[in-house]
Amino acid sequence: MDERIIATIEQSSDDWQYSLRPRRLNEYIGQEKAKQNLSVFVKAALNRREALDHVLLYGPPGLGKTTLAGIIANELGVNFRQTSGPAIERTGDLAAILTNLQERDVLFIDEIHRLSRQVEEILYSAMEDFALDIIIGKGPRARSIRVDIAPFTLIGATTKAGALSPPLRDRFGVISRLEYYSTDALVEIITRAAQILKIPIEPGGATEIAGRSRGTPRIANRLLKRVRDFAQVEGSATITDDIADRALIALEVDAAGLDHTDRRMLDAMIKKFRGGPVGLETIAASISETRETIEDIYEPYLLQLGFIMRTPRGRVVTEAGYRHMGVAYPKADNSPTLFDFETT
Ligand code: ADE
Repeated sequence: MDERIIATIEQSSDDWQYSLRPRRLNEYIGQEKAKQNLSVFVKAALNRREALDHVLLYGPPGLGKTTLAGIIANELGVNFRQTSGPAIERTGDLAAILTNLQERDVLFIDEIHRLSRQVEEILYSAMEDFALDIIIGKGPRARSIRVDIAPFTLIGATTKAGALSPPLRDRFGVISRLEYYSTDALVEIITRAAQILKIPIEPGGATEIAGRSRGTPRIANRLLKRVRDFAQVEGSATITDDIADRALIALEVDAAGLDHTDRRMLDAMIKKFRGGPVGLETIAASISETRETIEDIYEPYLLQLGFIMRTPRGRVVTEAGYRHMGVAYPKADNSPTLFDFETT
């Protein structure tokens, strides 16, 4: 799974992407709604000379949550400290980080939904009162002391806002959802990256890559590099739409940005389960993946494209999904009815 060129998970070979990261809000392309709101809140906090309210960024992986958090720190002119939910194993780890923060610093916690309960509880008073309640001693002689910390801004990032416990979610003053990028925005991002990496590219080439990047800059930038390799081997100085198209076909990334595994999943749903409804567990077993992988990695983009739908009785391949797979849509008996849809 980690080998997938369209994987949204950050890979170690993605290190070069750091040099592409925009550092200021005016360099950050797309996410207009989040950007507009954040720029107002940042200006207001600067004006009041106060720490910015805590910010929760959520949305699918690869859309630039870490980048945006870094930009917020830059715009505020403060230090950026970065960690992640699974990296903070003990309450002491978090206490050490928090007590070392300077006034108005940004602390970024990626995958914040994966904090342990004990660690999460330390965060409550830290976020609300800028104080830590530390227990000293054990048993009947244990007592709690309160230690003040510098007012700071917590920026939490998660791919699953629903997985966050309500008390933690309630302590964020700003909750911002990042959306998949439009093709236009991705064309701009690819063009900017190509400029920085000194890769000559025609607008048609950028459009071809953008259309197959699953609305995700991390994938767009990765595809750009692979397509450049093709262009180079073919002796072409510039990435044209034709080279991009052929390179992406060779990489098995289709016109909608689906790779071999996505298509395997749709194919199994159509051929083995007549397009559904079929349960996640069953889909997962039929293509030898875990339920979590399907739910977190494959399904979000297929849902976004409208190729599959969620119903209470399981997942269903839509007419668009059938069309994409080049299979005639069996409209009659297995098309979802109104009763198949969740009403929430
Ligand atoms: N590179 C990755 N994401 C970007 C974005 N949103 N704007 C500009 N460059 C990017």
